[in-house]
Amino acid sequence: MNPLPELRVVDHDDIAWHGAYCDYVSLVFRQADFRRWCEWRQWGEDYRAFCIVGYDGRVLANASVSRMRLRVEGREVVGYQLGAVGCLPQTRGQGLARRAMQAALGYCGSTPVFLFANDSVLDFYPRFGFAAAPQSLFEASLQAEPAGDGRGATLDLSDDDTRADFLRLAAAASAVSERFAACDYGRIATWYAANGYASPLIRLDHDTWVFAEVEDGVLTIEDVFATRPFDLSAALPHLIGQPIHTVRFGFTPERLWPQARAVGAEADADLFVRNLVLPAGPHRFPLLART
Ligand SMILES: CC(C)(COP(=O)(O)OP(=O)(O)OC[C@H]1O[C@@H](n2cnc3c(N)ncnc32)[C@H](O)[C@@H]1OP(=O)(O)O)[C@@H](O)C(=O)NCCC(=O)NCCS
Repeated sequence: MNPLPELRVVDHDDIAWHGAYCDYVSLVFRQADFRRWCEWRQWGEDYRAFCIVGYDGRVLANASVSRMRLRVEGREVVGYQLGAVGCLPQTRGQGLARRAMQAALGYCGSTPVFLFANDSVLDFYPRFGFAAAPQSLFEASLQAEPAGDGRGATLDLSDDDTRADFLRLAAAASAVSERFAACDYGRIATWYAANGYASPLIRLDHDTWVFAEVEDGVLTIEDVFATRPFDLSAALPHLIGQPIHTVRFGFTPERLWPQARAVGAEADADLFVRNLVLPAGPHRFPLLART
């Protein structure tokens, strides 16, 4: 008889296990891949995978944990974000994801934990003490024309030096919101870039880099990494290549554009929290800080 699956904690320096982890992710999540992110050396000390491993060395189930410095209603809160929770299709229904979840949550203890789920697991996380928390969409009506001297330079995070500069900036940048956001999550944002899911990264100046793009007159500012206060109305013309009438935000814009309105719930966010009290008013955890 084959030995039973075992728990293995995989860290950034367990490089021999990163391949098995990447195989697991691509088998469970069709639209997620960790290979390029690993090649970019983005697996840092704050990311830890609680893997259930079969006798043949395959990762069968997993729950990963990112340690994060959160901002919640103006306070710094250390918390953990869960990600890549799943089980290979052929080994489901055997309690393996539960084992991975229990190991990850045992590590988190009484510290706040949260995660972004999907609609197939809305009844799964409440089994582990999580409660659903709504996220909002923010928008502002705003007419702007492109700057005469053009857009800021678009940066390519596949370049090693640019990535190193980005991580330095992200580590020093202020949180984009004080309601519910995070600091120093450059290695999460690079996952989106490595998978082609991030908006173009535009450098406004040495200390201000913005993920943003325009479609049909709507500018979506996905995220802002800035070490100094940043005047959005002055910068806007340098973010766009065509006239715009609306701006949408991938985060709560109470600092960047207080006039923005919450225009409804973010339908597919499915945020779940545990030991974490979020602001009563509308808020949106930054898109590029989600694992
Ligand atoms: C959801 C998933 C992780 C469950 O994995 P699994 O190994 O089959 O789960 P387990 O066998 O450990 O189940 C633990 C418990 O959760 C229940 N459960 C399993 N899947 C569930 C689901 N989708 N919704 C609600 N409950 C679920 C099980 O019935 C079991 O309940 P019990 O304690 O009463 O017996 C797996 O189906 C999966 O990988 N789905 C696709 C990836 C995904 O969407 N992951 C979530 C990302 S946020």
